[in-house]
Amino acid sequence: MWPSLWKRHKSKGFAEVDRKRIPCHIAIIMDGNGRWAHRRGLPRSLGHKAGVEALRVIVRACSQLGVKYLTVYAFSTENWRRPKEEVGVLMNLLTEYLRKELEELHGNAVVVKALGRIEELPQEAQTELFKAFERTKENPGLVLNLALNYGGRAELVEVVRKASQDIAKGVLEPEKLDEHSLSQYLYTAGMPDPDLIIRTSGEMRLSNFLLWQSAYSEIVVVPEYWPDFDEKALLQAIQTYQQRERRFGGLSKG
Ligand code: IPE
Ligand code: IPE
Ligand code: MG
Repeated sequence: MWPSLWKRHKSKGFAEVDRKRIPCHIAIIMDGNGRWAHRRGLPRSLGHKAGVEALRVIVRACSQLGVKYLTVYAFSTENWRRPKEEVGVLMNLLTEYLRKELEELHGNAVVVKALGRIEELPQEAQTELFKAFERTKENPGLVLNLALNYGGRAELVEVVRKASQDIAKGVLEPEKLDEHSLSQYLYTAGMPDPDLIIRTSGEMRLSNFLLWQSAYSEIVVVPEYWPDFDEKALLQAIQTYQQRERRFGGLSKG
């Protein structure tokens, strides 16, 4: 089992986080691998490799904190525009991550899921993904959503397509369509919307991430490049989230 995070952080005087108000769903735009590498005079591929290490740490931390859902943006529908070599590196790292981590994730009760057009990923990556889904599907712990070949607009196109098919089949009445029924066609069907979206490396945009689901998410942008994002930075982001007042269009309680 993963060692206790609280014990370690208490002793080091890390961020003051209220353990009773941990966000249920955290989503992360893991950005800045390339710049992290560039700053060190390294190839971008080594930035991505270091990014996988950060992912390991953050998955473990979220599991220990009692976060129920962690969604990580690993590859966007637009990332295919990068050089073929870089796309290859990213796909290989994904395959390798799943191969190496599956048993540890399973041993810690994590459920592995994916959001995105998985069927367009290289065969090897798909094979490891399906193995991971199968192995972890009954687990009671953290749900780890890997956003892979994910695009918020592509997701909404699929929602419309599937809903129209159901209308044509007569299983869905257009008059009965509402936000709840439509959300059942999203990749995240049945999951709560993210409470907190963290973006690393200082960029203040969503880059096509969770367009529907982010409607009322609190967004925390941190300056660290993704490979430098550690438990301490995570706790800091959660603390920032806990200081926000979520109004959902209503009025302030105070
Ligand atoms: C995030 O880091 C990883 C992916 C998008 C796959 P980047 O590769 O975008 O790093 P920067 O933004 O160029 O620094
Ligand atoms: C968003 O980062 C996608 C992922 C983190 C996977 P990008 O680096 O691709 O986003 P832009 O191009 O800076 O908007
Ligand atoms: Mg980037």
